[in-house]
Amino acid sequence: MLSDEQNRRLAQVGAGTPMGELLRRYWMPIAAVAELDDKATKPVRLLGEDLVLYRDQGGTYGLLDRHCAHRRADLSYGWIEGCGLRCNYHGWVWDHTGKCLEQPFEEAANPEARFKDRVRIKAYPVEAKAGLLWAYLGPPPVPLVPTWEPFTWRNGFVQIVFSEVPCNWFQCQENSIDPVHFEWLHSNWTRVLQGDKGPKPPTHLKIGFEEFEYGFVYRRVLEGQSESDELWTVGRTCLWPNCLFTGGHFEWRVPTDDENMLSVGWFFDRVPNEMEPFTQERIPYWYSPLTEARTGRWITTHVMNQDFVAWVGQGALSDRTQEHLGESDRGVIMMRKRMLEQAELVARGGEPKAVIRDPADNACVQLPIIGREYFVGGYSRTDGDKRRGRTPGSPQRKDFPFLTGQPEEIRQALRRAMGLDTGVS
Ligand code: FES
Ligand SMILES: [Fe+2]
Repeated sequence: MLSDEQNRRLAQVGAGTPMGELLRRYWMPIAAVAELDDKATKPVRLLGEDLVLYRDQGGTYGLLDRHCAHRRADLSYGWIEGCGLRCNYHGWVWDHTGKCLEQPFEEAANPEARFKDRVRIKAYPVEAKAGLLWAYLGPPPVPLVPTWEPFTWRNGFVQIVFSEVPCNWFQCQENSIDPVHFEWLHSNWTRVLQGDKGPKPPTHLKIGFEEFEYGFVYRRVLEGQSESDELWTVGRTCLWPNCLFTGGHFEWRVPTDDENMLSVGWFFDRVPNEMEPFTQERIPYWYSPLTEARTGRWITTHVMNQDFVAWVGQGALSDRTQEHLGESDRGVIMMRKRMLEQAELVARGGEPKAVIRDPADNACVQLPIIGREYFVGGYSRTDGDKRRGRTPGSPQRKDFPFLTGQPEEIRQALRRAMGLDTGVS
């Protein structure tokens, strides 16, 4: 059981807190590249800091303090000009490094003073990768944005889905190392919600956890399976520090502040060999709703929506002093210990785990992947269904099971990419 102090420490994400400083050693996905095609600025709240994300006319991304360094107006209402963001209040212009490029009245009134050289605004680096925009809020030297193996795959339809979840990020990440919940929160509950139809889902017979360079692997043996199945031999990944990686998709739990989390999902659907070559000019994104409009209750129909119900149900900040942990929680316990220990390491000036700095290590960072050959080599449409096999992970699904609210045009684009008839559900 955790002490009050440990519980608080795990949840705090602000600058200067132990976990806040640990999290600042990693790049965080904060938006889709395509989002800035639609609108040039985006207000962002990340790790308790209010910021504005933008792309200038030269294509450079900036992430600045939301409040102008002149008299604190909201820069997300500013506009892009050349290689800067102009504040709508008095027209000062800032660039992506935090430099002040223009102060219209100051320059007219007192050009000799060069006041603009003496003011700066908080600025953080941003990089685009895999259709996402990533931000780094930590100290220099800035590490590399990881090139996780699926980012290098071809012939896949990728979509990015955001959800704004009103609870602390860490209880969401604890779910990334919780195999048993799948049987109950997803399989059994879905069956109950659908009127107890169909066969009873298999129970977990055995679970295992181990740490590796980039996080933890969790393994399971389900009723009807054995230790020779990939769910045991390969397992799934609780990716350090704030992600679940299942093989076909990533789910980042990005801390907005202590009581809110941005869920960022990156989903890869491999197209059948008959549809190769397939390339995407633009990786689409969408925001998934959380509640039913009529009742205000949480939506329960999709896999991650079910997760959200559990996470927000634990409270905005889960009180871990009141828990009773069992065998199923061994992974959660391992991860908590490692988080607290790594936060202390950072406080002592050390380098935490899974920070990638060498470009040679980052060409393609391999992870455990169930059904890798399926994602890489593809499959024929005619045998796609047969090859689903006994371990999940097949990319040939006809509907998007993870989150509710997929826009129709994205559903259609996916079906076209997969060679499925459009207009048929
Ligand atoms: S507050 Fe931004 S220019 Fe004055
Ligand atoms: Fe889940």
